[in-house]
Amino acid sequence: MPNIRKCSLAVLNYYKSLGIESHIQNKPRVRFEDHFYTKNQKKLLLKDKLKELKKKIINLDCKLKLKAKNFVFYDGFLRSDIMIIGEAPGYEEDKLGKPFVGAAGKKLDQMINAIGLDRKNNTYITNIIPWRPPNNRTPTDNEINFFLPYVEEHISIIKPKILLLFGNVASKSLLKLKNGITKNHGKWFNYKNPFLKKKIFTTCIFHPSYLLRSPNKKKIAWEDLKKVKEKIKSLQIKI
Ligand code: URA
Repeated sequence: MPNIRKCSLAVLNYYKSLGIESHIQNKPRVRFEDHFYTKNQKKLLLKDKLKELKKKIINLDCKLKLKAKNFVFYDGFLRSDIMIIGEAPGYEEDKLGKPFVGAAGKKLDQMINAIGLDRKNNTYITNIIPWRPPNNRTPTDNEINFFLPYVEEHISIIKPKILLLFGNVASKSLLKLKNGITKNHGKWFNYKNPFLKKKIFTTCIFHPSYLLRSPNKKKIAWEDLKKVKEKIKSLQIKI
């Protein structure tokens, strides 16, 4: 196999001998860090990265997609500092291809609206599993572990300042917790994403489906949401 570095150097030297000192590519080259871009340019970059990730996940060989109607990727505001991660799409989500649009979604909206968050202006929403598990069964450990690296990549694209994990599946899998959400809800964790340098303030909150089944737990969830509101304030996040 030819040595690519040597070949490239030979070509460059050849160009130089012809007096050529620069060359123009078909596409502009990305030379600057993200923060040099305007907000709209950043949105474009984000959209491209999300498109790439979507392509990767859709092409994965996974049995769940054979039975599901739609791929469910994300909803919400792209440049959010707050990212929500749920479990998996249900019937309505599968039908519409968007996370949290059924009864649990309405409850989730109520919960986050109560602390000034909403998906249109300041919150980004996704799930651990992008395809509906048949009959809304809980995803298996294999399924969760299969999609986890892609969820981690997803988080690294959005780069939230605060991560809200709704329910046991998201909480246990991302934070590698031994105990479930009953022991860990409302606590703050420093989540380390493999693609990011900075740790992310992360907390676990009862899943809205659980609250629909167990309304007596709403008060606890409200206390946990108030802690999120305080954290947003202390980090001076504009919402
Ligand atoms: N439950 C979830 O965890 N995610 C959804 O998108 C819908 C219901």
